[in-house]
Amino acid sequence: MEAVNREPIRVGIAGLGTVGSGTVNVLQRNSAEIARRLGRPLEIIQIGARRDNPHCDTQAYAVTRDIFDVANNPDVDILVELIGGTTVAKELVLTAIKHGKHVVTANKALIAEFGNELFAAADEAGVMVLYEAGVAGGIPIIKSVREGLAANQIDWLAGIINGTGNFILTEMEEKQRDFADVLKEAQALGYAEADPTFDVEGIDAAHKLAILASIAYGIPLQLGRLYIEGISKITQADIQYASELGYRIKHLGIARRSSAGVEMRVHPTLVPKESVLANVNGVMNAVMVSGDAVGPTLYYGAGAGAEPTASAVVADIVDAARAVGSPAENWVAPLAFHVQSDEAVLDIEQVETSYYLRIQVKEQTGVLAHISKILSDSGISIDAILQKEAHCTSGVVPIIILTQKVEEAKMNHAVGQIEALEESCEPVVRLRLEHLDLEI
Ligand code: HSE
Repeated sequence: MEAVNREPIRVGIAGLGTVGSGTVNVLQRNSAEIARRLGRPLEIIQIGARRDNPHCDTQAYAVTRDIFDVANNPDVDILVELIGGTTVAKELVLTAIKHGKHVVTANKALIAEFGNELFAAADEAGVMVLYEAGVAGGIPIIKSVREGLAANQIDWLAGIINGTGNFILTEMEEKQRDFADVLKEAQALGYAEADPTFDVEGIDAAHKLAILASIAYGIPLQLGRLYIEGISKITQADIQYASELGYRIKHLGIARRSSAGVEMRVHPTLVPKESVLANVNGVMNAVMVSGDAVGPTLYYGAGAGAEPTASAVVADIVDAARAVGSPAENWVAPLAFHVQSDEAVLDIEQVETSYYLRIQVKEQTGVLAHISKILSDSGISIDAILQKEAHCTSGVVPIIILTQKVEEAKMNHAVGQIEALEESCEPVVRLRLEHLDLEI
C-alpha cells in the first residue's frame, strides 16, 4: 500500500455538463480503488465551469467560471476537456499543451477535425492527448484497437457508433414510430448531440469512424475523405421491406482495407437479422473489429450517458497519470502508429458492396424485364426480389431488389438508367447491404 502514499496526480476539469459531472462523481466515488490501481491518488484540484451542475457536488473543489484558469493553472498535471465544440475547446487544449499538461478529452469532433494538429503540438511539448471517451462512450475501443490488437493487420471494422441513431432505428422498427417523434425522445433522454443533425445526418458517427480508421490503419485523420450518409431519409416502408427479406437497417460506420486502399464510410446499412450488429438495440453501441491474427472480435456497451462516458474519461486520466514523469518514447502513439502510412482512401464510387433497391414503377407489362436487363447489362447480379401489388389508386408498384456485390459507380449508372425508364415514378431508394461475418 506504500505506493498509494506517493504524491497525488493533480487533475483539472473544464466543463461540468453531463460528462463532466459524471467524471467528478466517478472520481469521487471510486477514488480509493483508482488510487490502488494507479499506485498513487488522483486529486481534482480545480474545476472550470460556467455554471454548477445539480448532478454533482463540487463544494470540496476550487471552482472557477473561467475554464482557461484550469489550462493556465501551474499546479494542474492533467487537463480534462469536457466543454465540447471545437473552437474554444481547441484553444483550451492548445493552451494546456503549451503549459506542459497532459490532456484528456471526450471530444470526438475536436479530435476528428484537429487531431493531427493537436497530436503534433502535444508531441513537441512532450505530453499526451487521450480521447477514449470520444468513440463509443464507455466501450474501451480505442485501447482495444490501439493496444489490444497491436499484433494484427486490421481487415475491417464495422460498428454502431451513434446511440441516438440506433435508438431511433430500433424504435421505428419495433414500434412503427415516426422518426421525428423518436428523435424528440432521444433528445429528452440526453443521448443526442447539442445539434441533433450531428446524430441523424451521420456526422457524429463520421467523427468516430475517422478516428477508428486512423488507429486501425495508421493513416492520418482524414474526415474530409469519409463518405457520410445519415438516417433522416429512412422510411417505415424500407424498414418493413428489409424485414420481410430477413434484414434490419442499422446505421453503421465501416472501415475496410483492400489492395486498392482504405474504405471509410458511414451510412444506413441492411444487415442480416441473425448478425450480431442487427441485434444491438436502443442506445447501445457495438463495434466489430476483424484482425488477420485474431479474426472477428466484438465490443459492446453504452455509447453515451454520464457515467459510461466518464468511465472512459477516467481510464484515460489513469493512463495520463502513468505518463507523468515517464519517457515519451515509450508511450503508445496517439493514433496507434509511430510511423503513419499514406495509403489511399477510396472514393465511395470505388467501394464494392451489395445493395437494396426500392423501385417505384407504373404497373405495366415488361417493366420488370426492363429493370432486370439494365442490371444484367451492368454486370449486377440479383440476389432476391420482392414485388408488391399495385397501390389501388395510384397504380404504383414497389419492386424491391437485393443485389450481390458491385462497385458503387456501376450501381449509380444502373440506378440512373432505371430512373430514366418511362415506367419509373420516383427516385430509386438505394441502401447498402453488408453480410458481416459474425453471427449470434
Ligand atoms: N450523440 C452521441 C450518440 C453521444 O448518440 O451516440 C455519444 O457520442
